[in-house]
Amino acid sequence: MRSTLMGMLLVMSMILAACGGAAPAPAPAAPAAPESPASGAVGVTTTDIDGISSDITDPPAVFNAEAASQYAGTTLRFYGDAVGLGSDMDKAMAAKFSEETGINVEVLPRPQDATEFYAQIQRFFQAQSTETDVLMMDVIWPGAFAPHLYDVSSIFAEEAQLHYPGIVENNTVDGKLTALPWFGDFGMLFYRTDLLAEYGFDAPPTTWDELEAIATAVQEGERAKGNPNFVGFVWQGAAYEGLTCNLLEWFYSQDGGTFLQDGAVTINNPQAVEALERAAGWVGGISPSGVVSYREEDARNVFQGGNAMFMRNWPYAYSAGNTDDSPIKGVFDVAPLPVTDPGSPAGTVGGWQLAISTYSQNKDAAVEFVRYATSPQMQKWRALVGTFVPTIPIVSEDAEVLEAMPFLQNLSPVVRVTRPSRETGELYNEASTIIFQSANEALLGSTTAADALAQAEQQLQRLVR
Ligand code: GLC
Repeated sequence: MRSTLMGMLLVMSMILAACGGAAPAPAPAAPAAPESPASGAVGVTTTDIDGISSDITDPPAVFNAEAASQYAGTTLRFYGDAVGLGSDMDKAMAAKFSEETGINVEVLPRPQDATEFYAQIQRFFQAQSTETDVLMMDVIWPGAFAPHLYDVSSIFAEEAQLHYPGIVENNTVDGKLTALPWFGDFGMLFYRTDLLAEYGFDAPPTTWDELEAIATAVQEGERAKGNPNFVGFVWQGAAYEGLTCNLLEWFYSQDGGTFLQDGAVTINNPQAVEALERAAGWVGGISPSGVVSYREEDARNVFQGGNAMFMRNWPYAYSAGNTDDSPIKGVFDVAPLPVTDPGSPAGTVGGWQLAISTYSQNKDAAVEFVRYATSPQMQKWRALVGTFVPTIPIVSEDAEVLEAMPFLQNLSPVVRVTRPSRETGELYNEASTIIFQSANEALLGSTTAADALAQAEQQLQRLVR
Protein backbone atom coordinates (compact mmCIF):
# COMPACT_ATOMS: atom_id res chain seq x y z
CA MET A 1 0.00 0.00 0.00
CA ARG A 2 2.74 2.37 0.98
CA SER A 3 4.65 1.96 -2.27
CA THR A 4 1.44 2.47 -4.24
CA LEU A 5 0.75 5.65 -2.38
CA MET A 6 4.28 6.85 -2.95
CA GLY A 7 3.96 6.06 -6.65
CA MET A 8 0.74 8.02 -6.91
CA LEU A 9 2.21 10.97 -5.10
CA LEU A 10 5.13 10.97 -7.45
CA VAL A 11 2.79 10.99 -10.42
CA MET A 12 0.74 13.81 -8.97
CA SER A 13 3.78 15.97 -8.33
CA MET A 14 5.24 15.20 -11.76
CA ILE A 15 2.02 16.23 -13.43
CA LEU A 16 1.84 19.45 -11.57
CA ALA A 17 5.53 20.25 -11.65
CA ALA A 18 5.30 20.03 -15.43
CA CYS A 19 2.84 22.89 -15.54
CA GLY A 20 5.53 25.53 -15.54
CA GLY A 21 6.70 24.31 -18.94
CA ALA A 22 10.22 24.38 -20.25
CA ALA A 23 10.38 28.01 -21.21
CA PRO A 24 12.18 30.56 -19.05
CA ALA A 25 10.01 31.40 -16.09
CA PRO A 26 9.47 34.95 -14.91
CA ALA A 27 10.11 35.68 -11.26
CA PRO A 28 7.32 34.22 -9.17
CA ALA A 29 5.15 36.80 -7.52
CA ALA A 30 4.75 34.80 -4.38
CA PRO A 31 7.63 33.78 -2.17
CA ALA A 32 8.99 30.36 -3.07
CA ALA A 33 6.89 27.54 -1.70
CA PRO A 34 8.37 25.60 1.17
CA GLU A 35 9.71 22.14 0.35
CA SER A 36 6.85 20.44 2.12
CA PRO A 37 3.82 22.59 2.77
CA ALA A 38 2.05 19.66 4.47
CA SER A 39 1.08 22.04 7.19
CA GLY A 40 1.79 25.55 8.24
CA ALA A 41 1.21 27.54 5.05
CA VAL A 42 -1.63 29.97 5.75
CA GLY A 43 -2.32 27.91 8.80
CA VAL A 44 -3.91 25.09 6.80
CA THR A 45 -3.19 21.61 8.08
CA THR A 46 -4.27 18.17 7.00
CA THR A 47 -6.98 18.17 9.68
CA ASP A 48 -8.68 21.06 7.88
CA ILE A 49 -9.48 18.68 5.05
CA ASP A 50 -10.82 15.90 7.25
CA GLY A 51 -14.52 15.17 7.09
CA ILE A 52 -15.10 16.60 3.61
CA SER A 53 -18.14 15.03 2.01
CA SER A 54 -18.05 13.12 -1.28
CA ASP A 55 -21.63 14.08 -2.00
CA ILE A 56 -22.26 16.44 -4.90
CA THR A 57 -25.01 18.19 -2.94
CA ASP A 58 -22.79 18.86 0.06
CA PRO A 59 -19.90 21.24 -0.70
CA PRO A 60 -17.56 22.25 2.14
CA ALA A 61 -18.53 24.95 4.62
CA VAL A 62 -17.53 28.50 3.64
CA PHE A 63 -14.60 29.02 6.05
CA ASN A 64 -14.29 32.70 5.05
CA ALA A 65 -18.02 33.45 5.38
CA GLU A 66 -17.47 36.12 8.01
CA ALA A 67 -15.06 38.17 5.90
CA ALA A 68 -17.17 37.60 2.80
CA SER A 69 -20.51 38.57 4.32
CA GLN A 70 -19.52 42.23 4.46
CA TYR A 71 -20.23 42.15 0.69
CA ALA A 72 -23.66 40.54 1.13
CA GLY A 73 -26.10 41.68 -1.54
CA THR A 74 -23.43 41.81 -4.27
CA THR A 75 -24.04 39.68 -7.35
CA LEU A 76 -21.04 37.94 -8.92
CA ARG A 77 -21.06 36.51 -12.42
CA PHE A 78 -18.86 33.43 -12.68
CA TYR A 79 -17.90 31.64 -15.90
CA GLY A 80 -17.70 28.09 -14.58
CA ASP A 81 -17.37 24.58 -15.93
CA ALA A 82 -19.47 22.92 -18.59
CA VAL A 83 -18.16 19.37 -18.88
CA GLY A 84 -18.88 16.20 -16.91
CA LEU A 85 -20.07 16.82 -13.37
CA GLY A 86 -18.33 20.23 -13.38
CA SER A 87 -21.37 22.35 -14.12
CA ASP A 88 -23.56 20.82 -11.38
CA MET A 89 -20.67 21.02 -8.95
CA ASP A 90 -20.17 24.72 -9.69
CA LYS A 91 -23.83 25.39 -9.10
CA ALA A 92 -23.72 23.54 -5.77
CA MET A 93 -20.59 25.43 -4.72
CA ALA A 94 -22.08 28.79 -5.71
CA ALA A 95 -25.32 28.04 -3.84
CA LYS A 96 -23.39 27.14 -0.70
CA PHE A 97 -21.34 30.32 -0.92
CA SER A 98 -24.46 32.45 -1.44
CA GLU A 99 -26.27 30.78 1.44
CA GLU A 100 -23.44 31.42 3.90
CA THR A 101 -22.34 34.89 2.76
CA GLY A 102 -25.35 36.61 1.20
CA ILE A 103 -23.28 37.20 -1.97
CA ASN A 104 -25.23 35.98 -5.01
CA VAL A 105 -23.25 33.98 -7.52
CA GLU A 106 -24.68 33.59 -10.99
CA VAL A 107 -22.98 30.61 -12.64
CA LEU A 108 -22.68 30.91 -16.40
CA PRO A 109 -21.43 27.76 -18.09
CA ARG A 110 -18.43 28.41 -20.30
CA PRO A 111 -18.58 27.22 -23.90
CA GLN A 112 -17.46 23.57 -23.81
CA ASP A 113 -14.97 24.27 -26.58
CA ALA A 114 -11.86 25.91 -25.07
CA THR A 115 -11.11 27.82 -28.28
CA GLU A 116 -14.64 29.26 -28.38
CA PHE A 117 -14.31 30.23 -24.74
CA TYR A 118 -11.03 31.98 -25.55
CA ALA A 119 -12.73 34.01 -28.28
CA GLN A 120 -15.58 34.91 -25.96
CA ILE A 121 -13.24 36.11 -23.23
CA GLN A 122 -11.25 38.07 -25.77
CA ARG A 123 -14.44 39.88 -26.82
CA PHE A 124 -15.31 40.64 -23.19
CA PHE A 125 -11.91 42.06 -22.50
CA GLN A 126 -11.74 44.08 -25.71
CA ALA A 127 -15.01 45.69 -24.67
CA GLN A 128 -13.72 46.09 -21.08
CA SER A 129 -16.98 44.45 -20.10
CA THR A 130 -18.03 44.64 -16.46
CA GLU A 131 -20.36 41.66 -17.01
CA THR A 132 -17.91 39.04 -15.78
CA ASP A 133 -16.31 38.95 -12.36
CA VAL A 134 -14.71 35.54 -11.98
CA LEU A 135 -13.70 33.25 -14.80
CA MET A 136 -11.97 29.98 -15.52
CA MET A 137 -8.56 30.41 -17.17
CA ASP A 138 -6.96 27.62 -19.15
CA VAL A 139 -3.36 26.81 -18.18
CA ILE A 140 -2.20 28.10 -21.59
CA TRP A 141 -3.82 31.54 -21.35
CA PRO A 142 -2.14 33.68 -18.68
CA GLY A 143 0.36 35.05 -21.22
CA ALA A 144 -2.45 36.26 -23.45
CA PHE A 145 -4.88 37.63 -20.88
CA ALA A 146 -2.57 38.95 -18.14
CA PRO A 147 -3.25 42.65 -18.90
CA HIS A 148 -6.97 42.10 -18.27
CA LEU A 149 -6.68 40.06 -15.09
CA TYR A 150 -6.71 41.51 -11.61
CA ASP A 151 -3.28 41.26 -10.00
CA VAL A 152 -3.73 38.97 -7.00
CA SER A 153 -0.02 38.71 -6.14
CA SER A 154 -0.28 40.31 -2.76
CA ILE A 155 -3.92 39.44 -2.01
CA PHE A 156 -3.27 35.71 -2.45
CA ALA A 157 0.44 35.63 -1.54
CA GLU A 158 -0.22 33.14 1.26
CA GLU A 159 -2.75 31.03 -0.64
CA ALA A 160 -0.34 30.78 -3.58
CA GLN A 161 2.15 29.05 -1.32
CA LEU A 162 -0.24 26.16 -0.83
CA HIS A 163 -0.06 25.12 -4.50
CA TYR A 164 2.59 23.33 -6.53
CA PRO A 165 5.11 26.06 -7.42
CA GLY A 166 5.15 25.09 -11.13
CA ILE A 167 1.52 26.12 -11.61
CA VAL A 168 1.85 29.32 -9.66
CA GLU A 169 4.81 30.14 -11.86
CA ASN A 170 2.74 29.32 -14.95
CA ASN A 171 0.09 31.79 -13.77
CA THR A 172 2.62 34.52 -13.05
CA VAL A 173 3.31 36.94 -15.89
CA ASP A 174 5.97 39.64 -15.44
CA GLY A 175 5.75 39.26 -11.69
CA LYS A 176 1.95 39.47 -11.63
CA LEU A 177 -0.08 36.54 -10.29
CA THR A 178 -3.05 36.40 -12.68
CA ALA A 179 -5.06 33.56 -11.14
CA LEU A 180 -5.11 30.89 -8.45
CA PRO A 181 -4.86 27.26 -9.63
CA TRP A 182 -8.14 25.33 -9.51
CA PHE A 183 -7.39 21.88 -10.95
CA GLY A 184 -4.84 20.08 -13.09
CA ASP A 185 -5.47 17.91 -16.16
CA PHE A 186 -3.59 15.41 -18.30
CA GLY A 187 -4.51 13.24 -21.25
CA MET A 188 -5.06 9.52 -20.65
CA LEU A 189 -6.43 6.37 -22.29
CA PHE A 190 -9.77 5.03 -21.05
CA TYR A 191 -10.56 1.42 -21.96
CA ARG A 192 -13.31 -1.14 -21.34
CA THR A 193 -12.04 -3.82 -18.95
CA ASP A 194 -14.98 -6.15 -19.65
CA LEU A 195 -14.52 -6.13 -23.42
CA LEU A 196 -10.75 -6.46 -23.15
CA ALA A 197 -11.23 -9.72 -21.24
CA GLU A 198 -14.13 -10.92 -23.41
CA TYR A 199 -12.02 -10.64 -26.56
CA GLY A 200 -9.09 -12.44 -24.96
CA PHE A 201 -6.65 -9.59 -24.36
CA ASP A 202 -4.89 -9.64 -21.02
CA ALA A 203 -3.70 -6.03 -20.80
CA PRO A 204 -4.47 -2.63 -22.30
CA PRO A 205 -2.32 -1.69 -25.31
CA THR A 206 1.09 -0.16 -24.79
CA THR A 207 1.77 0.57 -28.48
CA TRP A 208 -0.37 2.33 -31.08
CA ASP A 209 -0.20 -0.84 -33.22
CA GLU A 210 -1.69 -2.85 -30.36
CA LEU A 211 -4.40 -0.26 -29.81
CA GLU A 212 -5.35 -0.51 -33.47
CA ALA A 213 -5.42 -4.33 -33.36
CA ILE A 214 -7.59 -4.48 -30.23
CA ALA A 215 -9.88 -1.70 -31.44
CA THR A 216 -10.38 -3.49 -34.76
CA ALA A 217 -11.13 -6.88 -33.16
CA VAL A 218 -13.60 -5.50 -30.62
CA GLN A 219 -15.30 -3.21 -33.13
CA GLU A 220 -15.83 -6.10 -35.57
CA GLY A 221 -17.05 -8.38 -32.80
CA GLU A 222 -19.50 -5.89 -31.31
CA ARG A 223 -20.88 -4.95 -34.71
CA ALA A 224 -21.33 -8.62 -35.56
CA LYS A 225 -23.23 -9.02 -32.28
CA GLY A 226 -25.69 -6.39 -33.48
CA ASN A 227 -24.40 -2.97 -32.42
CA PRO A 228 -23.71 -1.10 -35.68
CA ASN A 229 -22.71 2.03 -33.75
CA PHE A 230 -19.84 0.45 -31.88
CA VAL A 231 -16.42 2.00 -32.58
CA GLY A 232 -12.87 1.18 -31.54
CA PHE A 233 -11.45 4.54 -30.49
CA VAL A 234 -12.83 8.03 -29.82
CA TRP A 235 -10.83 11.20 -29.25
CA GLN A 236 -10.92 14.94 -29.95
CA GLY A 237 -10.48 15.66 -33.65
CA ALA A 238 -12.38 18.94 -34.14
CA ALA A 239 -10.48 22.05 -35.22
CA TYR A 240 -9.98 23.49 -31.70
CA GLU A 241 -7.56 23.42 -28.76
CA GLY A 242 -8.38 19.83 -27.82
CA LEU A 243 -6.94 18.59 -31.14
CA THR A 244 -3.66 20.38 -30.37
CA CYS A 245 -3.58 18.39 -27.10
CA ASN A 246 -4.23 15.05 -28.87
CA LEU A 247 -1.69 15.87 -31.55
CA LEU A 248 0.99 16.67 -29.01
CA GLU A 249 0.49 13.22 -27.46
CA TRP A 250 0.57 11.45 -30.85
CA PHE A 251 3.74 13.29 -31.85
CA TYR A 252 5.63 13.01 -28.57
CA SER A 253 4.76 9.33 -28.12
CA GLN A 254 6.09 8.56 -31.61
CA ASP A 255 9.32 10.55 -31.36
CA GLY A 256 7.87 13.48 -33.31
CA GLY A 257 8.67 16.26 -30.82
CA THR A 258 6.56 19.08 -29.39
CA PHE A 259 5.84 21.46 -32.35
CA LEU A 260 8.31 24.16 -31.26
CA GLN A 261 11.52 23.57 -29.40
CA ASP A 262 14.05 26.12 -28.13
CA GLY A 263 12.61 28.83 -30.31
CA ALA A 264 12.71 26.68 -33.47
CA VAL A 265 9.67 25.31 -35.32
CA THR A 266 10.07 21.52 -35.31
CA ILE A 267 6.52 20.45 -36.20
CA ASN A 268 7.42 19.17 -39.67
CA ASN A 269 9.47 16.02 -39.17
CA PRO A 270 9.08 12.49 -40.58
CA GLN A 271 7.89 10.95 -37.30
CA ALA A 272 5.24 13.66 -36.86
CA VAL A 273 4.06 13.15 -40.45
CA GLU A 274 3.76 9.42 -39.81
CA ALA A 275 1.88 9.98 -36.57
CA LEU A 276 -0.61 12.28 -38.29
CA GLU A 277 -1.00 9.82 -41.18
CA ARG A 278 -1.73 7.10 -38.67
CA ALA A 279 -4.44 9.20 -36.99
CA ALA A 280 -5.96 10.14 -40.36
CA GLY A 281 -6.14 6.40 -41.07
CA TRP A 282 -8.32 5.88 -37.98
CA VAL A 283 -11.05 8.21 -39.28
CA GLY A 284 -13.84 6.07 -40.72
CA GLY A 285 -11.94 2.95 -39.60
CA ILE A 286 -11.52 2.32 -35.87
CA SER A 287 -12.86 5.84 -35.22
CA PRO A 288 -16.16 7.23 -36.51
CA SER A 289 -15.99 9.62 -39.49
CA GLY A 290 -17.54 12.24 -37.22
CA VAL A 291 -14.50 12.21 -34.91
CA VAL A 292 -13.12 15.10 -36.99
CA SER A 293 -15.68 17.29 -35.24
CA TYR A 294 -15.51 15.68 -31.77
CA ARG A 295 -14.74 17.62 -28.62
CA GLU A 296 -14.36 16.14 -25.11
CA GLU A 297 -18.07 15.62 -24.45
CA ASP A 298 -18.73 14.06 -27.88
CA ALA A 299 -16.09 11.44 -27.17
CA ARG A 300 -17.38 10.89 -23.64
CA ASN A 301 -20.97 10.47 -24.78
CA VAL A 302 -19.98 7.65 -27.14
CA PHE A 303 -17.70 5.93 -24.64
CA GLN A 304 -20.01 6.37 -21.66
CA GLY A 305 -22.94 5.19 -23.76
CA GLY A 306 -21.12 1.87 -24.07
CA ASN A 307 -20.30 2.37 -27.74
CA ALA A 308 -16.48 2.54 -27.79
CA MET A 309 -13.59 0.35 -26.70
CA PHE A 310 -11.08 3.18 -26.15
CA MET A 311 -11.28 6.89 -25.45
CA ARG A 312 -8.67 9.61 -25.04
CA ASN A 313 -9.88 12.14 -22.47
CA TRP A 314 -9.13 14.04 -19.22
CA PRO A 315 -9.67 12.83 -15.61
CA TYR A 316 -13.15 14.41 -15.31
CA ALA A 317 -14.47 11.59 -17.50
CA TYR A 318 -13.58 9.06 -14.80
CA SER A 319 -16.08 10.33 -12.20
CA ALA A 320 -18.70 10.95 -14.89
CA GLY A 321 -18.33 7.37 -16.18
CA ASN A 322 -18.76 5.97 -12.68
CA THR A 323 -22.02 7.68 -11.69
CA ASP A 324 -24.88 5.35 -10.77
CA ASP A 325 -26.72 5.91 -14.03
CA SER A 326 -23.67 5.35 -16.22
CA PRO A 327 -23.90 2.25 -18.46
CA ILE A 328 -20.15 1.67 -18.09
CA LYS A 329 -19.91 2.11 -14.33
CA GLY A 330 -17.23 -0.23 -12.97
CA VAL A 331 -16.29 -1.72 -16.36
CA PHE A 332 -13.61 0.68 -17.50
CA ASP A 333 -10.15 1.71 -16.38
CA VAL A 334 -7.37 4.07 -17.36
CA ALA A 335 -3.91 3.43 -18.83
CA PRO A 336 -1.13 5.58 -20.29
CA LEU A 337 -1.66 6.56 -23.91
CA PRO A 338 0.32 4.19 -26.18
CA VAL A 339 3.68 4.74 -27.89
CA THR A 340 5.56 3.75 -31.00
CA ASP A 341 9.15 2.95 -30.20
CA PRO A 342 11.35 4.98 -29.48
CA GLY A 343 8.73 7.47 -28.25
CA SER A 344 7.62 7.75 -24.62
CA PRO A 345 4.04 7.57 -23.34
CA ALA A 346 2.78 11.12 -23.15
CA GLY A 347 -0.04 13.04 -21.49
CA THR A 348 -0.63 16.69 -22.40
CA VAL A 349 -0.73 18.93 -19.34
CA GLY A 350 -3.97 20.87 -19.07
CA GLY A 351 -5.79 22.47 -16.21
CA TRP A 352 -7.77 25.49 -15.12
CA GLN A 353 -7.31 28.48 -12.83
CA LEU A 354 -9.75 31.00 -11.37
CA ALA A 355 -9.11 34.62 -12.29
CA ILE A 356 -10.83 37.91 -11.55
CA SER A 357 -11.46 40.33 -14.38
CA THR A 358 -9.75 43.66 -13.93
CA TYR A 359 -12.99 45.27 -15.19
CA SER A 360 -15.07 43.64 -12.42
CA GLN A 361 -16.82 46.12 -10.17
CA ASN A 362 -17.10 43.53 -7.41
CA LYS A 363 -13.47 42.62 -6.87
CA ASP A 364 -13.61 42.30 -3.08
CA ALA A 365 -16.50 39.87 -3.16
CA ALA A 366 -14.83 38.05 -6.07
CA VAL A 367 -11.65 37.64 -4.02
CA GLU A 368 -13.60 35.91 -1.24
CA PHE A 369 -15.35 33.64 -3.73
CA VAL A 370 -12.04 32.63 -5.36
CA ARG A 371 -10.47 32.10 -1.92
CA TYR A 372 -13.23 29.59 -1.13
CA ALA A 373 -13.41 28.00 -4.57
CA THR A 374 -9.69 27.22 -4.81
CA SER A 375 -9.17 26.28 -1.16
CA PRO A 376 -7.82 22.91 0.04
CA GLN A 377 -11.29 22.03 1.36
CA MET A 378 -12.91 22.74 -1.99
CA GLN A 379 -10.16 20.96 -3.95
CA LYS A 380 -10.69 17.88 -1.82
CA TRP A 381 -14.44 17.92 -2.43
CA ARG A 382 -13.84 18.41 -6.14
CA ALA A 383 -11.40 15.48 -6.19
CA LEU A 384 -13.76 13.16 -4.30
CA VAL A 385 -16.87 14.07 -6.27
CA GLY A 386 -15.57 14.93 -9.72
CA THR A 387 -12.02 13.43 -9.93
CA PHE A 388 -10.64 16.90 -10.57
CA VAL A 389 -6.88 16.73 -9.97
CA PRO A 390 -5.84 18.92 -7.00
CA THR A 391 -3.10 21.53 -7.34
CA ILE A 392 -2.34 21.53 -3.61
CA PRO A 393 0.08 18.93 -2.22
CA ILE A 394 -1.71 18.39 1.09
CA VAL A 395 -4.83 17.55 -0.89
CA SER A 396 -3.08 15.29 -3.42
CA GLU A 397 -1.40 13.43 -0.59
CA ASP A 398 -4.68 12.81 1.21
CA ALA A 399 -5.54 9.10 1.47
CA GLU A 400 -9.24 9.59 0.59
CA VAL A 401 -8.29 11.61 -2.48
CA LEU A 402 -5.85 8.92 -3.65
CA GLU A 403 -8.54 6.31 -3.16
CA ALA A 404 -11.00 8.33 -5.26
CA MET A 405 -8.47 8.47 -8.11
CA PRO A 406 -7.11 4.91 -8.31
CA PHE A 407 -6.19 5.46 -11.95
CA LEU A 408 -3.24 7.65 -11.01
CA GLN A 409 -1.13 4.68 -10.06
CA ASN A 410 -1.31 3.34 -13.63
CA LEU A 411 0.14 6.51 -15.03
CA SER A 412 3.60 6.59 -13.50
CA PRO A 413 5.54 6.06 -16.77
CA VAL A 414 3.80 8.94 -18.50
CA VAL A 415 5.75 12.03 -19.58
CA ARG A 416 3.77 15.23 -18.96
CA VAL A 417 4.17 17.29 -22.09
CA THR A 418 3.34 20.98 -22.14
CA ARG A 419 2.04 22.99 -25.03
CA PRO A 420 4.39 25.82 -26.06
CA SER A 421 2.37 28.55 -24.32
CA ARG A 422 5.20 29.98 -22.24
CA GLU A 423 7.34 30.14 -25.34
CA THR A 424 4.74 31.84 -27.52
CA GLY A 425 3.05 33.96 -24.80
CA GLU A 426 0.26 36.10 -26.20
CA LEU A 427 0.69 34.44 -29.60
CA TYR A 428 -0.11 30.98 -28.27
CA ASN A 429 -3.71 30.88 -29.47
CA GLU A 430 -2.64 31.84 -32.99
CA ALA A 431 0.09 29.20 -32.94
CA SER A 432 -2.31 26.54 -31.73
CA THR A 433 -4.91 27.58 -34.33
CA ILE A 434 -2.35 27.05 -37.10
CA ILE A 435 -1.56 23.62 -35.65
CA PHE A 436 -5.11 22.34 -35.15
CA GLN A 437 -6.43 23.72 -38.43
CA SER A 438 -3.68 22.08 -40.46
CA ALA A 439 -4.05 18.80 -38.59
CA ASN A 440 -7.84 18.84 -38.96
CA GLU A 441 -7.49 19.23 -42.74
CA ALA A 442 -5.27 16.15 -42.82
CA LEU A 443 -7.78 14.21 -40.70
CA LEU A 444 -10.57 15.24 -43.06
CA GLY A 445 -8.48 13.96 -45.95
CA SER A 446 -8.55 17.32 -47.74
CA THR A 447 -4.75 17.40 -47.66
CA THR A 448 -1.96 14.94 -46.89
CA ALA A 449 -0.28 14.81 -43.50
CA ALA A 450 2.99 15.87 -45.13
CA ASP A 451 1.43 18.92 -46.79
CA ALA A 452 -0.48 19.83 -43.64
CA LEU A 453 2.64 19.89 -41.51
CA ALA A 454 4.69 21.70 -44.17
CA GLN A 455 1.99 24.37 -44.24
CA ALA A 456 1.87 24.57 -40.43
CA GLU A 457 5.65 24.88 -40.34
CA GLN A 458 5.68 27.83 -42.71
CA GLN A 459 2.88 29.64 -40.91
CA LEU A 460 4.43 29.06 -37.49
CA GLN A 461 7.78 30.31 -38.71
CA ARG A 462 6.14 33.54 -39.86
CA LEU A 463 4.32 33.87 -36.52
CA VAL A 464 7.20 33.32 -34.13
CA ARG A 465 10.08 34.93 -36.01
C1 GLC B 1 -9.02 20.55 -20.98
C2 GLC B 1 -7.68 21.02 -20.44
C3 GLC B 1 -7.28 22.33 -21.08
C4 GLC B 1 -7.30 22.17 -22.58
C5 GLC B 1 -8.67 21.74 -23.06
C6 GLC B 1 -8.66 21.47 -24.56
O1 GLC B 1 -10.05 21.36 -20.52
O2 GLC B 1 -7.71 21.18 -19.06
O3 GLC B 1 -6.00 22.72 -20.63
O4 GLC B 1 -6.91 23.37 -23.23
O5 GLC B 1 -9.05 20.56 -22.39
O6 GLC B 1 -9.88 21.05 -25.01
